[in-house]
Amino acid sequence: MNHPVMQGVNVNAPTSVKHARLLAWVAEVAALTAPDQIVWCDGSEEEYNRLCAQLVAGGTMKKLNPELRPNSYLALSDPSDVARVEDRTFICSEQAEDAGPTNNWMAPAEMRQLLQTGDNALFRGCMAGRTMYVVPFSMGPLGSPIAHIGVELSDSPYVAVNMRIMTRMGKGALDVLGDNGEFVPCVHTVGAPLMPGQKDVAWPCNKTKYIVHYPETREIWSYGSGYGGNALLGKKCFALRIASTMGRDQGWLAEHMLILGVTSPAGKKYHVAAAFPSACGKTNFAMLVPPQSAYAGWKVTTIGDDIAWIKPGPDGRLRAINPEAGYFGVAPGTNHKTNPNCMDSLQRDVIFTNVALTDDGDVWWEGMTDAAPAHLIDWQGKDWTPQIAKDTGAKAAHPNARFTVSARHNPVLDAAADDPSGVVIDAFIVGGRRSTTVPLVTEARDWVEGVYMAATMGSETTAAAAGQQGVVRRDPFAMLPFMGYNMSDYFQHWLTLGATLQKAGVALPRIFCVNWFRKGADGKFVWPGYGDNMRVLEWMLGRIEGQAGGVENAFGVSPQYADLRWDGLAFTAEQFASVTSIDKAAWAQELTLHDELFAQLAHHLPAEMPATKAKIQARLAATA
Ligand code: OXD
Ligand code: MN
Repeated sequence: MNHPVMQGVNVNAPTSVKHARLLAWVAEVAALTAPDQIVWCDGSEEEYNRLCAQLVAGGTMKKLNPELRPNSYLALSDPSDVARVEDRTFICSEQAEDAGPTNNWMAPAEMRQLLQTGDNALFRGCMAGRTMYVVPFSMGPLGSPIAHIGVELSDSPYVAVNMRIMTRMGKGALDVLGDNGEFVPCVHTVGAPLMPGQKDVAWPCNKTKYIVHYPETREIWSYGSGYGGNALLGKKCFALRIASTMGRDQGWLAEHMLILGVTSPAGKKYHVAAAFPSACGKTNFAMLVPPQSAYAGWKVTTIGDDIAWIKPGPDGRLRAINPEAGYFGVAPGTNHKTNPNCMDSLQRDVIFTNVALTDDGDVWWEGMTDAAPAHLIDWQGKDWTPQIAKDTGAKAAHPNARFTVSARHNPVLDAAADDPSGVVIDAFIVGGRRSTTVPLVTEARDWVEGVYMAATMGSETTAAAAGQQGVVRRDPFAMLPFMGYNMSDYFQHWLTLGATLQKAGVALPRIFCVNWFRKGADGKFVWPGYGDNMRVLEWMLGRIEGQAGGVENAFGVSPQYADLRWDGLAFTAEQFASVTSIDKAAWAQELTLHDELFAQLAHHLPAEMPATKAKIQARLAATA
């Protein structure tokens, strides 16, 4: 049973949908984009299976060997469409200064002309020959006071099936929306209309790409890419860029943070949210397995691996939910040693994108096993052998190859992961990938110093974004590519929220800065990382309890060798010194880079930032 024609378009909505604004908007976008038909997604398993079968028939996905990887698929993207495109991502606020110097900006009217209203607008007729899927979704547990609803209109069935894994998608979201609820409208096209009779390609996309946000009207328009954060609009576009502006206006936080639970042998549970840039181990940390020899009885459980929405609860304490329902994680480097819980999550019901195919119909990626299989089909569909890799450097899997899997498959999913009221955050952790300078762990002396640590975070770039890799860029709060408004206003938002809660007598979470990635003279990582990060986590919990020792340094409070537990790990005091030392010259240089950041962010930069820097400088000057 469907609605009749609206605005000259058959929107094909189920009659249960009574939301007039939603129906009118679908009709309006369909009139612009001219799809052949409109399909409303209900989020059922039957629908998922049907769309996956369609994607297999169309050549976008391959079904993997059901005996080795039941109900799982491999998609290979176009080689030009493999990562988020930050230089094609725009924040189109009315005022350029509201987007700030870290974002690409264009006036909304100008952008709308280009995309929607001009004679040659890119969205005009862009879905011709294709089906437009109406994908309603909830970011966060259905009905949670911290959650919000979005609706994505996409001409990509690959997007529809990924959205079913990544969000609470379908009828449940429509029910929450009701007849008049608020939703964030998200329009996505691969930008590859089909002429009558034209044969489709396996991965349609367009070399022209626009990932556009209108913060004032809370709209997202994405053109030309079918990949990840460019196309699954609930993730970076909504849950970070648009949600950060909603949080600024409504007094909450949308953060690029994992959320984990950690329970001590005595049964005391803590919740920690951690901001690391893309491909710096958020998924691994969120699924950490404590080293058994030393940490029997400790348990780490996952609430989220990428994004946190954090709001003061009724008692003022900050409560967090994971707005997502699945993981869109980086596959290369993931194995039974680095992340056994993740490998267990990937046993079935997975969509892999841009990993390699084995001869027996399973998947492989660099780092999955010590030895590579003798023969593979690589992510570009070509024959691959270890010898070819040696001769040409060809990777079997793209470095940003991904898996999409439901959080329900995570063996250490936290019991509160679906709790609509979220979990109380006890500590924030921030940290980047730095081979030098930044110590293994430091605790901020107070909220302002913690905000400073987060604001000045730097990280060496990875394959998660298109562009040069391995160069240090400032990545405040790991939000540089995901900020929906002026970065300095965002720092102020954090400061104001902290001050307001403190004034109301609320205990604020502690803030810690970590760096797992310092390298020795041999160029190798010194800190073992992964499960052994539990030792650092335990120190943080000890600090919260007022039990763990630490010494003040220029940048905060760090543990001494004896303040961490070392049983089961051969790690010498000298090695510890090499990952915790504060090198005066390196820090003098680091502070000049903070200055450069502050010069870039001068408009509305909170006075607390240069003031905190001056204190660090004074402390450095006072050290031998
Ligand atoms: C991601 C990213 O996909 O940060 O999570 O790039
Ligand atoms: Mn991320």
